[in-house]
Amino acid sequence: MSVLLAYPHEHIEGRPVGDFITAVWDLGADWPRERQGPDPCDVQAAAGFMAVQLPEWCLALSEEAVLAAALANQARNAERGLGLVPAIAATDRIVQRETLPRELSPRWRPLCDGVDGMPAKLVVKAGCSTSGLGVEIVEHASDIGRAVRLIQRRAVGCLARLRQIREPHFLLEEYVEGFSFEVSGYSRDDVECVFRPLQQRWTEDGRIAEYIPHERPPSGLVDAAIRAVRALHLRWCGWCVELKGHPWRVIEVNARLGEDAGSYARKVSPGGCPVRAMCEALMGA
Ligand SMILES: Nc1ncnc2c1ncn2[C@@H]1O[C@H](COP(=O)(O)OP(=O)(O)O)[C@@H](O)[C@H]1O
Ligand SMILES: [Mg+2]
Repeated sequence: MSVLLAYPHEHIEGRPVGDFITAVWDLGADWPRERQGPDPCDVQAAAGFMAVQLPEWCLALSEEAVLAAALANQARNAERGLGLVPAIAATDRIVQRETLPRELSPRWRPLCDGVDGMPAKLVVKAGCSTSGLGVEIVEHASDIGRAVRLIQRRAVGCLARLRQIREPHFLLEEYVEGFSFEVSGYSRDDVECVFRPLQQRWTEDGRIAEYIPHERPPSGLVDAAIRAVRALHLRWCGWCVELKGHPWRVIEVNARLGEDAGSYARKVSPGGCPVRAMCEALMGA
């Protein structure tokens, strides 16, 4: 089986997945500043590259790789591998919100629809996942314009993920109180394998300081994550679902494992590398 792992591969500790790799599309050596590398969001170029390598199917391990891997799977008509429609639902936040069951989402709307009926405390979000750079919390509707301009300024020259969607778009979400949890895992056909859920701990200046592992996750957390994964039809891929609130609300779903290497990997999977476990399960099948 030939598989292409699209990942900044030096971040896979000890490169334990080497046995499986016949080609690596390295998205940039300076992750998480991968945005300065060759434009990984040019899915046409990526698919062209992958066509030369002829992988049977592609597994994306970073956000930038999700659409490209799905496009290559589609081009090869791959039996396994993430499809294009689920990949779009996982990378475009508006499609994602439309696809998730209503009761699993915070109240939301496209920015252009205005704030009528929304609470005062809102989250202004870019239309794609951006490692926090595309997200601003505002206390009043009058701050939305400033938040959008701030996100757009940050996007100049750095937000490759925003460029995945050629016309960046925004949405507004109700602010969900509580701690953020991440549930990651992978799916073959209809079988999900779930790693150990983690709670995020944030710094004052808005970065994830550490992940706190939970042997016994709070009630309903894993079920809500799996419902989200199934709603998006994520199969033959890794995934990571971020959830908050009571009842659980899905903050985002990504069609790849959590991206923080090192301590993240050890905490979700203390018995061994989660990437290796996923590769063995998906590729060895
Ligand atoms: N609707 C929301 N309510 C409360 N907090 C949110 C909401 N959306 C995002 N956040 C906070 O902002 C962070 C970044 O948002 P997220 O959607 O995960 O974007 P990114 O892809 O940039 O990680 C989340 O980890 C969460 O702490
Ligand atoms: Mg997030």
